[in-house]
Amino acid sequence: MAQPPDLDLLITQDECLLDRAADALADVGWWCGDDIVAPALVRDLRLELRALIAADALARAGVGREADFQIDHSVRRDRIRWLTRQQPVHARFLGLAEDLRHALNRRLFLGLFEFEAHFAHYPPGAFYRRHLDSFRGAANRVLSTVAYLNDHWQPGDGGELVLYGANEEDEAVRIAPRGGRLVIFLSEEVPHEVLPARRDRYSIAGWYRLNSSIQGQIDPPR
Ligand code: OGA
Ligand code: MN
Repeated sequence: MAQPPDLDLLITQDECLLDRAADALADVGWWCGDDIVAPALVRDLRLELRALIAADALARAGVGREADFQIDHSVRRDRIRWLTRQQPVHARFLGLAEDLRHALNRRLFLGLFEFEAHFAHYPPGAFYRRHLDSFRGAANRVLSTVAYLNDHWQPGDGGELVLYGANEEDEAVRIAPRGGRLVIFLSEEVPHEVLPARRDRYSIAGWYRLNSSIQGQIDPPR
């Protein structure tokens, strides 16, 4: 049977899956789904990220925004590159994120307004210490997403994403960065970390944000 042309966008066609994702976000603050990004898109995004790495087009990741921005090697060691709508492979992923934004807004009334995302490369040994993606009240990141682009990730390869619960030491879940997997969690509520990877680890981290425009000016640059 011929495949529909946009099988890139598996999740946005599955209302039951979207209901479950929305329920999980409302109940426990996080959700993880497998085979969400279609294999062909995962492969194309991985090729794109590898090409960017080969062209030395990634930048050291920092912590904080604008004036607070700093690079702290003891906190995070990944390298990043922001996605843009002008690049066709990036645009396919951003299209999926846009459909997901509408689906989540319909179910959760979060008023998600826009999405920003970057590729991330964790070379062997790289990690990201425990942190929150957004501070309550201060920022406008509402939901965090991570899409993984790795082929055949093995249990010994490390690089798991650890999500923590409300109590300091509660480890809610440990998630391997398996290709096609998508994790979504509440940016202000869920502390998390990336354990040291033992091989190159490829992903796209993204954030749904509120509209914090001032006088018609869309939110200032990151
Ligand atoms: C981040 C982050 C998690 C991951 O980039 O802020 O927490 O699994 N990433 O890559
Ligand atoms: Mn994070």
